[in-house]
Amino acid sequence: MHSLNVALGDRAYAIHIGRGLLEQAGRILPCLKTQRVAIVTNDVVGPLYLERLRSALENAGVAVSTVVLPDGEAHKDWQTLNRIFDMLLAERCERSTTLIALGGGVVGDMGGFAAACYQRGMPFIQIPTTLLAQVDSSVGGKTAINHPLGKNMIGAFYQPRLVLADIDTLDTLPDRELSAGLAEVIKYGLIRDPEFLAWIETHLDRLLARDTAALAFAIERSCRNKAEVVAADETEQGERALLNLGHTFGHAIETGMGYGQWLHGEAVAAGTMMAAELSRALGWIGKEDVARVEALFERARLPVWGPRLGVERYLEFMSHDKKVEAGRLRLVLLRALGRAVIHGDATQGEIAAAIEARCR
Ligand code: NAD
Ligand code: GLY
Repeated sequence: MHSLNVALGDRAYAIHIGRGLLEQAGRILPCLKTQRVAIVTNDVVGPLYLERLRSALENAGVAVSTVVLPDGEAHKDWQTLNRIFDMLLAERCERSTTLIALGGGVVGDMGGFAAACYQRGMPFIQIPTTLLAQVDSSVGGKTAINHPLGKNMIGAFYQPRLVLADIDTLDTLPDRELSAGLAEVIKYGLIRDPEFLAWIETHLDRLLARDTAALAFAIERSCRNKAEVVAADETEQGERALLNLGHTFGHAIETGMGYGQWLHGEAVAAGTMMAAELSRALGWIGKEDVARVEALFERARLPVWGPRLGVERYLEFMSHDKKVEAGRLRLVLLRALGRAVIHGDATQGEIAAAIEARCR
């Protein structure tokens, strides 16, 4: 097992990455305030993993309440969030009860937001079960639901007390979801870790074949990158925005296509190609760099072209981005492969041209 620390002072927490962690209630017990938990999961992950976690906790003397949400990005909304509150109230959960999110990024983001709000804040643990959630969404305390006009627009920064990434759970993950997670893995290489980028290029086939050692390395290295960024800039006043490479374009794809049509990681991959194209047009990276990113995404079985939503619609959705400041869109672009920057000076025409060039 590998363990990392997210260094946030008195809110610091551990990320454990390994096999068989779901059954290890002993790792969870020290993080509980009382012997009571409420597990939030969904109707895909619940049948696979809920009983394992529940019985490990109950055997350790912990009282367990559960809620099983409908699966999917289309349910990352107020109505579904309210089902968590319904359960917490009906079961008379207290402020000291610990909420455990068991699932992918959708369950983690909604569970975390519910924990931030219920009685103004209850302890919270992340047990991510997708590659995307293990390398990204479970770490760093961003929690949210979607609004019809924009992704993750309603939410809170609220850190978990523990992240348990059980690699065994990835055995049941569909191939398409594995690829979506790889988009965020590749992101860390592109924004700040060129050595890792080269490692991914060399080991991509092993990752796609779900080789445990390769996955463990990629998850740990990704979490290490994320933990460093979050520790330096928890609430995204600066550097943390770099974690959003491809996301401004990608969120427009997700919202424009209807939540759940494109997976988040797929939209990030196509969005990163738009960011790479704009970086090339600004003279920062070369054609061969764009081709290198494209080849890696293609090998990872990810889309490298955005859907033809129409440039105007892209720009409309992008104007709701959380990085907009005083009406100005700030984008994460590539100064080099392995070095991202935030750039607020691209013109509408330059952005539109990059979108146009990467749609098919
Ligand atoms: P997801 O939660 O929808 O999970 C993908 C699919 O896999 C779902 O159908 C899910 O039920 C299923 N699943 C989960 N674990 C499984 C398993 N072990 N075996 C079989 N099926 C399994 O999607 P995701 O890709 O995990 O997360 C995407 C979400 O995360 C988006 O809403 C995105 O906005 C959010 N996100 C948040 C952050 C953050 O920092 N908070 C970062 C990146 C992404
Ligand atoms: N996924 C972006 C962030 O956590 O900041």
